[in-house]
Amino acid sequence: MNILSSVLSIIFFFIMVAVIYSQFRKTKTADSNKTVEQFDGIDEKDAPIPKVFFVAYLIAFIGAIVYVLLYPSLASWKGFIGWTENDDAYVAKSIDINNNINAIINANTDEQVFTLLQKDPLVLQSGKSLFGDNCSACHGQDAKGQYNYPSLVDKDWLYGGSPQDVYTTIHNGRKGKMPAWKGVLSGKDIDELTQYVSELNKGPFKSNALFDANCSSCHGKEAQGSHSVGAPNLTNDIWLHGSTNADIKRNIENGMYNEMPDFGQRLSRNQILSLTSYIVSLQSEPQDNIDIMQANTYIFSRNEQQLPAVLTTCVACHGADGLGTLPGAPKLAGLKQAYIYNQLHLFVSGLRKNATMQNIVADLDVKDKLLAASYFSSLDSPAISKITPEKSADGIIKDPTERLIFQGDWQRAIPACSTCHGQETQGSPSFPRLAGQSSDYLEKQLFDWRTGDRTGDQGHMMQNVVNKLTDDEIKSLSKYLSKMK
Ligand code: HEC
Ligand code: HEC
Ligand code: HEC
Ligand code: HEC
Repeated sequence: MNILSSVLSIIFFFIMVAVIYSQFRKTKTADSNKTVEQFDGIDEKDAPIPKVFFVAYLIAFIGAIVYVLLYPSLASWKGFIGWTENDDAYVAKSIDINNNINAIINANTDEQVFTLLQKDPLVLQSGKSLFGDNCSACHGQDAKGQYNYPSLVDKDWLYGGSPQDVYTTIHNGRKGKMPAWKGVLSGKDIDELTQYVSELNKGPFKSNALFDANCSSCHGKEAQGSHSVGAPNLTNDIWLHGSTNADIKRNIENGMYNEMPDFGQRLSRNQILSLTSYIVSLQSEPQDNIDIMQANTYIFSRNEQQLPAVLTTCVACHGADGLGTLPGAPKLAGLKQAYIYNQLHLFVSGLRKNATMQNIVADLDVKDKLLAASYFSSLDSPAISKITPEKSADGIIKDPTERLIFQGDWQRAIPACSTCHGQETQGSPSFPRLAGQSSDYLEKQLFDWRTGDRTGDQGHMMQNVVNKLTDDEIKSLSKYLSKMK
């Protein structure tokens, strides 16, 4: 097919050259003084085609030949300069940041990783173009934000401005919720609070009993805000939702819900790292933001000798790459931070029973659990290729196991696994990835739901599914999912 189209291209090329050349020859002998026809007083002369057209054609033909010789355009012939699609400027950029970032990540600590990323112009450039494509619609081309969308260049952070905070914001998304106070507080109290809040940015801090009782739990004792719930600092001149007394009153009365979408499934780790570096580079003193990171953290850096104690325990079974070393220990790479954290919590509370894991997590404090969750969620999980199951004429998937995964069984009210776990069961913000997890592990989990050793899934979503599956189905599903790559 390729050869045929190449041969035809060459034949057409010569036919075109021949046509142009013969036209040129034919009209060369034309006589511009001779009238060939007359109509309504207009003479049509027998003029030759102007030479400039011929020259233009000649240039176009030569250009086409040069192009064909240099670039791949005929069958599988690659052209003389060995150009490939990867040489395209846009593609080359993402390939290069992967090499650059992977090399940088082998630095000792996160602090060093982010300091080095700041110095890599290609990483910052790729962050900038990713920002233009994914973020500028809400945060503005210059990242200075707009009404309801925070500025990312000032020092006023809702969730913290260290590279780890910014990475977590982009990877997991954020939901800022401020409850409505209408009906909870009296109109008089709301007026008093409106007045109080609007004057917080003037003069030294003065406390207020109503604020202490109702607002300081989120906004902080001195109204400085809190990164853990994303409550803004109310003592400066920066207002996300309006600065007039009427705005402030409306916001207190009605409350607010503001959402930053999560990009963990849409962008790769390295893309999020380059975005994070770009945002940090926009700060007036980027190094300040890096310095506020906890000293000696190893969430992004990859130096196995230097892993913090808590992770050294985990990687013995789950692997430093999160792909599992011990049979029975699941792959954790790329699972969502919130999912991992929640599972650790379920082991502590006993809602999920497993002697090994319960012993290990019993000693962990919140900080350790968060560190472990962010470490494993930041690791890359293997790609999965698209699956196209064979269907019968009426559109029903033929293989019963594939049918359960991609279409479900509506007679038994079993939703497709893919509706929750994602089209290729690659996982989504709220549901873990199944593809490529070991068959023994998957099977054990499904039977654990049956026996009640695993509970705590929100709304009993999985328990409801498992209760409708037969033992044989559980086994064949586990085998099939483990082979998906
Ligand atoms: C449960 C935590 C919580 C409590 C309690 C709370 N807030 Fe908030 N508040 C927030 C969050 C989160 C936001 C930011 C919403 C967003 O993400 O945009 C906010 C935003 C605001 C804003 C808008 C700031 C701006 O920049 O536009 C005002 C004003 C405010 N709160 C006042 C109050 C007052 C007054 C009280 C007490 C009556 C109070 N809040 C209690 C969490 C809380
Ligand atoms: C659909 C609109 C939207 C898009 C697209 C979006 N964001 Fe956001 N972003 C928000 C909102 C809204 C908030 C504030 C959330 C809150 O108030 O709780 C936010 C908050 C943030 C914060 C935290 C700011 C702080 O003060 O702590 C960062 C960092 C951020 N976004 C970065 C990004 C990046 C990087 C991208 C692109 C990959 C992006 N955002 C895309 C809407 C968006
Ligand atoms: C001795 C081996 C071993 C060690 C060490 C270990 N794990 Fe595990 N982990 C397991 C096994 C086995 C399971 C499967 C438990 C089950 O069947 O429910 C598991 C399950 C998990 C899960 C659930 C994953 C999922 O997909 O639901 C998480 C999260 C986890 N481990 C995190 C950790 C962390 C964090 C550490 C370090 C603090 C750690 N593990 C240390 C063996 C281990
Ligand atoms: C209604 C949504 C929903 C559907 C449909 C669903 N799941 Fe799940 N699944 C979940 C949730 C939620 C979890 C996480 C449970 C938790 O938080 O402990 C989960 C977890 C799992 C796990 C544990 C993964 C791990 O890493 O430990 C397995 C295995 C699983 N699902 C298999 C399946 C299979 C097979 C199907 C189809 C027959 C299916 N699920 C359909 C919601 C769903």
